[in-house]
Amino acid sequence: MKSAEKLYGLLGHPVGHSLSPVMQNDQFAEQGLPSFYHAFNVPPEHLKDAVQGLKALDISGFNVTVPHKIEVMEYLDEIDEEARIIGAVNTVVKQKDKWVGYNTDGRGYVESLLSKTGDTLKESNVLVIGAGGAARAVVTALSFQGVRHLTITNRTYSKAETLREQVPQNSNITVLTTEEAEKENPTFDIIINTTSIGMSPDTDKTPWRTDNMKPNCLCSDLIYNPLKTKWLKEAERHGADTLNGVGMFVGQGAFAFYTWTGVWPDLQRMNDVVMQHLGGK
Ligand code: ATR
Repeated sequence: MKSAEKLYGLLGHPVGHSLSPVMQNDQFAEQGLPSFYHAFNVPPEHLKDAVQGLKALDISGFNVTVPHKIEVMEYLDEIDEEARIIGAVNTVVKQKDKWVGYNTDGRGYVESLLSKTGDTLKESNVLVIGAGGAARAVVTALSFQGVRHLTITNRTYSKAETLREQVPQNSNITVLTTEEAEKENPTFDIIINTTSIGMSPDTDKTPWRTDNMKPNCLCSDLIYNPLKTKWLKEAERHGADTLNGVGMFVGQGAFAFYTWTGVWPDLQRMNDVVMQHLGGK
């Protein structure tokens, strides 16, 4: 690293397979920014020391991933509103001597969804399956974006209710049991799976029925390993359009890049770099 270079990082455990370094370093080079991004494998018991260390080194910014997205908030000076509602931080930047935490997962996801739906997203009736961390990011960002109606369903009903209560603009959000939501299946324009059902190595499982969907429904899976889950393949056979989780990963990285540099990155190039490494192109 040259002395004028800025340093960015990722704190996670494990981080060995993360595609963030290759995606971000390629984009720094593409934008002519003398910066370097490195993934640090930090076990939970060392998170506090790691964050203090990065602050002492005056790092320019960093990402946070599993399992640190919640605990890291304790070590920051300010939390952005969206990250506060989501209850997790994935992007940290120093602003006027304060370390500020953001969450770009939800916005990253909505960006990728908009590339499929365009303006029709605002008119859409959306089902979100799951109520964990990923669902919180997606539901919060969708409520900021504005959709016609949003339904949350989750194996554990009470967690879906809690999620609904945590979103400030929640008058058009409904919580349904799995059975109730299945009956409503023909009414949804967009169905989003935020659970890990179907993720490698359990690729034989599917999170939701596809036989009674709207014919032109958009099925969106946050999973990108495999690139096309069994559920997305089934949905395609029933005539649905599909969206995998690559766009969310790229989108969260793009908003992180913008938060740090003030430069909007080349989204297509970021996507191509990721796809090359996932063997999809
Ligand atoms: P993440 O941060 O990836 O969202 P999480 O916070 O652990 O992970 O949330 C996982 C979500 O997937 C939850 O909504 C979970 O349902 P419960 O709240 O009932 O635990 C859901 N999930 C995971 N495995 C599931 C399964 N086999 N069947 C149904 N739901 C499942």
